[in-house]
Order: sequence, then C-alpha cells, then structure tokens
Amino acid sequence: GFDISKLLPQTGLVTLDNGFGNTAAYKSAITFVDGDNGILRYRGYPIEQLAERGSFIETAYLLINGELPTTDQLAEFSNEITQHTLLHEDVKRFYQGFPRDAHPMAMLSSVVGALSTFYQDSHNPFDAGQRHLSTVRLLAKLPTIAAYAYKKSVGQPFVYPRNDLSYVENFLRMTFAVPAQEFELNPVVVNALDKLLILHADHEQNCSTSTVRLVGSSHANQFASISAGISALWGPLHGGANQAVLEMLEQIQQDGGDVDAFIRKVKNREDGVKLMGFGHRVYKAFDPRAALVKGLAHDVLAQLGKSDELLEIALKLEEHALSDDFFVSRKLYPNVDFYTGLIYRAMGFPTSMFTVLFALGRLPGWIAHWHEMINDPGSRIGRPRQIYTGTAIRDYVELDKR
Ligand code: ACO
Repeated sequence: GFDISKLLPQTGLVTLDNGFGNTAAYKSAITFVDGDNGILRYRGYPIEQLAERGSFIETAYLLINGELPTTDQLAEFSNEITQHTLLHEDVKRFYQGFPRDAHPMAMLSSVVGALSTFYQDSHNPFDAGQRHLSTVRLLAKLPTIAAYAYKKSVGQPFVYPRNDLSYVENFLRMTFAVPAQEFELNPVVVNALDKLLILHADHEQNCSTSTVRLVGSSHANQFASISAGISALWGPLHGGANQAVLEMLEQIQQDGGDVDAFIRKVKNREDGVKLMGFGHRVYKAFDPRAALVKGLAHDVLAQLGKSDELLEIALKLEEHALSDDFFVSRKLYPNVDFYTGLIYRAMGFPTSMFTVLFALGRLPGWIAHWHEMINDPGSRIGRPRQIYTGTAIRDYVELDKR
C-alpha cells in the first residue's frame, strides 16, 4: 500500500544515465572529440599538428591559457616552471615511509595530495595569483615526484632536477641517471616522450578529468583535486590500461603466443577477460591518438635498434580483432593505451611506471579544466542525483529483538 511517488524526488525530473553515457555535466571550450569520425582537437588545433610540430610545454600553455604562446610567453612559462622543480626536502620522507614495492601511482597521488600541506600559500581558488602558483608548482613538481617514485622502487638515490634541461629531458635524467655514472640523453627517447605527453594532454570529460572537476567543484584546492584525478586514472579501465595491455601481451607470449586462443577467450568472456587497450566510451572509430602511437612505436623501436616480440603479438591482435564481427559490431578499436606500453618498455620504463607517464601527460588537461570551472561564474558544486531502490520505510528494531 506504499505510494511509490513518495520516493520520487520532489524537485522535478531526474534522469538515470548509467556511466553518464549521454549526459553532459559541463560546457567546455578546451577539447573537441568527434568519436564517430576519430577527430581530436585541443583548443581547435588538430592533435596530429600539435604532435608533429608542437612541444608538450607549448601544449600545456595552450590548454591552460587558450592560445598558443608567443616566443616570450613560452620562455617565461618554461622559466617559471623550471624555478619550481625542486621538492621541499621533507617531502622526501614520504618516500622513506612507503614500502619498497609500493605502486608508483599510489606514491604519486599521495605525494601530490601532500603538496597541499607544504604549499598552503596557494590554496585559495579565488585568488588569481595563488591559482597560478599552484598550477606552476604542479607542472614543475610532478616529474620530480614521478622520478622519485621510480627511484624509490629500484632503491637508487634521488637525482635532483637540473634546470638547464627541458621538461622531458629533466624527467628522464631524474629517472634514469645514477650518481657517479655517465648518463646520456637519447634524442629519440626525448622526442618520442614529448609527443606521447602531447597525445595524452587532454581528453575532455574522461573519468579522471571529471573527478578533478567534481572535487574542485567543492572549492577544494588544486593539489587535492589533482591528487583525486591521479587516483581515478590508476584504474585499469582508464589510464591503468597501458600497464594492463603490456601484462596481457606478456601473458599471451608466455602462453605460447596463440593470439587466436586469446581472442576466443575474450569473445567467450572467460574469467571476464577483455582485450585491454581496445574500446572507448566516445570513439566508435579508430582513436586518432592510437593511429599516431602505432606509427611512433614502429619508429622508436627502429631508431633504438630494438625489436620486440610483443609488438608482433599486438599487431596480430589488432589485425584479428579488426576483422572479427565481435569487435566490429561493437565498434571496438585500439585506444591510446594499446601501443604506448611498447614504446615505454623500449625506453626502459618498468610496466608499473606506464600509468605515471600518462599522468604526467594528462596534468595540463586536468589543470585547464579546474581553471575553466573555477573561472565560470555559473559553476555549481557537482552533485549527481540518484534513483533510490532501497526499502521504503520500516521501524527501528531493538538490538536484542533482531
Ligand atoms: N574487450 C572485449 N569486449 C569489450 C571491450 C574490450 N576491451 N570493451 C568493450 N567491450 C564490449 C562490452 O563487453 C560490451 O559488450 P556487450 O554489449 O555485449 O555487453 C560492449 O563492448 C560495449 O562496451 P561497454 O563496456 O558498454 O563500453 P564502455 O563505454 O562502458 O567502456 C571501456 C569503455 C571502459 C574503455 C571499455 O571499452 C574497456 O573496458 N576497454 C578495455 C580497457 C581499456 O583499454 N581502457 C582504456 C580506455 S582509454 C583511456 O582511458 C585512455
């Protein structure tokens, strides 16, 4: 006899949209994605042009400020970032406390969250100077935090930033240089990593960016908001897929390299196995980033003089999937994560660092969205509705009567 209408919200119509498949939460002028035609543009610039002709720092400036920088603006922006690459010495103690086998993504989100304890002078989202300072600190310090996480995991001493190097060069040196040993930067690696960071720099309302916006919508500071985004990125359905792809390829190799058998497993949904690095919520055509990364994987392996049996397995998997009705009918194509891991591996990164590299790339996008939201006078706290499905009403029962 209960009136179901009493459970319906009293404030008007509520839509239920599983996983926000069709619901826009924001208006945004940052990134355009056309999933049916495989188009991606940052601030109107095609991703192909930015990856071919731009740099990551220029792209970061573009995403955050809306325009490509002039020579002077770029020099000033780079110089500012360079001045903030060092971490407070006490931040290093966090790493001492982490277990040696801690996942670098866990260290990344924790240490970025902890930045809000060290840099309390840039918390106020409504002070333009403080907003800018937080942004510069995040851009400058994330490579240092990421490199320290790697050093912790391999038990090597931390390498301090060197400010005469470019953003990517500095990160590579902090990661791979060992004190008292020769270290040489390889231009092929520098160039390829810069391109990969550009390709990851923004992708509108993906899970981690929406997380940054949701946390920031409560007016939490930028460090706290970005730390939450890093946690969201870690999952294997999102940025964690680049690690999962490589583990999948290694497993197929260990099982004798039988790609057909693996595809059968995916189609039969055995043990919930998915073809990692395939499928995308928005792209129902080839992910334009995947096309660029695939080309880059071939180039980098060739230029580094490396061959990788896992690349052969990946190519076979792609070929089989693209001609199989299971994948074709569901419009499942390789996404950005399918080939990136092969490049990172050729560069010498362990699998556990792959998602950290994604985070380094995505940082300017997260920051750009945080600013866009804070600067929007019409923005409100993010607060989804729900459809209640629990018991309508019942009386409390004393503990001894249950
Ligand atoms: N392997 C096998 N089947 C898949 C895959 C896959 N990789 N992706 C989707 N499907 C199937 C689903 O089972 C579903 O089939 P059904 O209609 O018979 O039930 C259908 O394709 C539609 O998929 P959904 O899960 O509804 O798609 P959704 O948009 O919710 O998920 C996601 C997108 C999470 C990317 C999914 O494709 C996936 O899990 N892919 C593998 C993980 C991955 O590569 N993630 C990285 C995404 S890109 C990024 O974050 C950078």
